[in-house]
Amino acid sequence: MIGVISAHITHRWVDIKKLELYAAKEARSLLSSIKDLDSVCECALLKTCNRVEIYVATTNPERTKAALEAMILNFVEGSERNHVQFLSSTGSVRHLARVTSGLDSMIVGEDQILAQVKEAYEFGIKEGTIGKTLGEVFRKAISIGKKVRTETGVNKGGVSIGSAAVELANGLLSSLQNRTILVVGAGEVSRLVARSLASHNVKAIFVANRTYDAAEQLAAELGGEAVHFDRLPERLRMSDVVICGTSAPHVVIDKSDLVRAFGPAGPATPLLMIDISNPRNISEDVLELPNVQLHDMDGLKEVAERNEERRKNEIERAEKTIDSELELMKSRFEERRDSEETVRLLHTYVGRIRESEYAKAVNKLNGVDERQKKVMYDMLMSVTKKILAEPTESLKEASKNGEQELIDATEKLFKLRRR
Ligand SMILES: NC(=O)c1ccc[n+]([C@@H]2O[C@H](COP(=O)([O-])OP(=O)(O)OC[C@H]3O[C@@H](n4cnc5c(N)ncnc54)[C@H](OP(=O)(O)O)[C@@H]3O)[C@@H](O)[C@H]2O)c1
Repeated sequence: MIGVISAHITHRWVDIKKLELYAAKEARSLLSSIKDLDSVCECALLKTCNRVEIYVATTNPERTKAALEAMILNFVEGSERNHVQFLSSTGSVRHLARVTSGLDSMIVGEDQILAQVKEAYEFGIKEGTIGKTLGEVFRKAISIGKKVRTETGVNKGGVSIGSAAVELANGLLSSLQNRTILVVGAGEVSRLVARSLASHNVKAIFVANRTYDAAEQLAAELGGEAVHFDRLPERLRMSDVVICGTSAPHVVIDKSDLVRAFGPAGPATPLLMIDISNPRNISEDVLELPNVQLHDMDGLKEVAERNEERRKNEIERAEKTIDSELELMKSRFEERRDSEETVRLLHTYVGRIRESEYAKAVNKLNGVDERQKKVMYDMLMSVTKKILAEPTESLKEASKNGEQELIDATEKLFKLRRR
């Protein structure tokens, strides 16, 4: 029997500094190490800015959990037992459905997570680590995530980590009106920031990116100005707010950049810096200069709580949708198990008749040699196999389509008794 277990390290109980350590592990090698663990048949890895989650299909959940826990503790320096939460069977499936629905996100209702789960699924398929069991779990969770978004208003208003960063800046400065904003990065998260800035009547937006073309493209969409990365200090000097979101695995802005921009005394007026990258891209040493405020993703918690409060009713509706979808999935599983048991009983029933008729025939024929016995037995095997092939297929199909009547009728017809 195959079971599902999962390990979760998320923003709900681990801060961004610790999360960085786990997220730093390269996905392909991590997947391959998990695949080699005791009793593992399938595995998948979901790694986003707010979470590292491992899903495993295993023939021995207890042994795999122990091996997985030991692996995580050994792999990551600074790792602790309480950083990782384990779930199993329906708990794992429910959790993934809540994730795809945006209910477990830091910014509840954000849409980006659905695409990130799809990517994790496709990656697992490509690597050959996701098979029948996890495939079904992921496909179901993705379809629930879509359903929740169409049937409830949980994602209304297009909230995202980008809009949360803008809301944080707006709140801390009372207003962003007439402020100059420097966006560092021009990928998905910077686009979300940019989209959100559009309604704030800011004075100017600069977009700095490693690849200048991408900066130009985003700046053009925003009516802003693209900045070459090496001219960052110049634009820093003109900015009130810096929002940084790149995938660089290292620091992109540190104290020396601010010193180059403002001189050794630092900025004369407040400079608000928000880093929404994981791993973080703004070094904490910027705080050694006066007038600098730095917030990372943990700093978005209050904005996140307000967002969650605003969506309370829709979250409840989403939870109900998830419950009923999982209930449906469970009953389909049970039906499938039902048909498996019917097929097993039918084969046992026919097999018993075959064995007894064979024994009777051998007795009657008195003196058949081993070769003749084998011919007779093979013929009987072949006949029963052929007779049972179609009904077996039909029962499996009936179970898949939820046609319980055929399963019941078969049991009645052959007087098959469940224990
Ligand atoms: N997407 C989300 O919903 C989300 C949510 C929360 C946090 N985040 C975090 O935000 C960051 C960016 O995510 P994303 O989704 O926007 O990624 P993305 O779409 O892949 O964009 C990556 C950006 O980072 C830049 N970049 C990559 N490597 C770099 C390097 N070595 N030096 C300087 N710039 C580099 C890229 O510049 P080029 O154009 O030159 O390649 C691009 O602008 C990540 O740390 C992620 O964890 C993302």
